[in-house]
Amino acid sequence: MSATESRVSKGIILAGGSGTRMAPMTSGCNKQLLPVYDKPMVYYPLSALMLAGIQDVLLISSPEEIDRFSSLLGDGSQFGIQISYEVQPRPNGLAQAFVIGSSFIGDDNVALILGDNIFHGNDLATILQRAAANQEGATIFAYEVRDPERYGVIELDEFDNPIAIVEKPIDPQTNLAVPGIYFFDNRVVSIAQSLQPSARGEYEITDVIEHYLQDGTLSVQRFSRGMAWLDTGTPMALLQAGNFIAAIEQRQGLRICCPEEIALRMGFITAEQLAENTANMKSEYGAYLRSITKQFSNNSLAAS
Ligand code: TTP
Repeated sequence: MSATESRVSKGIILAGGSGTRMAPMTSGCNKQLLPVYDKPMVYYPLSALMLAGIQDVLLISSPEEIDRFSSLLGDGSQFGIQISYEVQPRPNGLAQAFVIGSSFIGDDNVALILGDNIFHGNDLATILQRAAANQEGATIFAYEVRDPERYGVIELDEFDNPIAIVEKPIDPQTNLAVPGIYFFDNRVVSIAQSLQPSARGEYEITDVIEHYLQDGTLSVQRFSRGMAWLDTGTPMALLQAGNFIAAIEQRQGLRICCPEEIALRMGFITAEQLAENTANMKSEYGAYLRSITKQFSNNSLAAS
């Protein structure tokens, strides 16, 4: 990165955790490897980072599970990106991502996405690319939910400037939850390194965000009601997320958060590469990829 460049070109997927709410499904398998309808859960946060234009990704998971992620995702070249891996020995909190990822981050700015968060909606790529474009301070998002007490909750003034952020408040002042995607400048590394664990023994992302709030460099963008933000932390939430994805995919014949398709449309890989990678894929997923490759090539030919 040049001294003046502030674009976020790196992203971390935090895909460890205990998955206690999903037991016994998570007793022998990491939550983020479970399917959400037609693809592994981790494809969804990976897709969000790619839509933000990020091609350098670090995936963090537990020591027991990290090899399964690398078997699934490899070095990322099939998506035209680079994926590297680090281990979080114990799930001691989201803010540890920046400490574990400090050498990956280097002098750059960074995005963090939680491995069990799904985003889908109009203009998502534009919104994320805008956040990634010129990152000074921190950019987080706000989303209206029915049960804010389960999340980090943000309070905004009449101009949408942030006033306060509270982790899982008993008595939330607003119903605006903070979704699990965040963009930070490089100071996040030293901020995370200086944190003390919270009363529940975790290095909290809200404490990181609080630093930016205090020094006046926290920006909060609202996701509109047209945006779907789904978390998949309980069996019912997982089922609902799968049903949601299935309903839209069945209606449109398009796949949601399909990293190969995003790679093609973002120009990370060529149609020839995708055709080669999918030639022997026998699943419906493979057939879909071949059909969009063909369409893409025909459209490119027509436009040339
Ligand atoms: P949580 O939903 O807070 O926790 P969890 O996934 O461990 O599940 P449960 O509450 O049922 O025990 O985690 C949010 C996301 O962050 C999820 O994708 C797992 C990930 N995570 C880590 O990778 N490391 C951590 O230290 C924590 C707290 C979460």
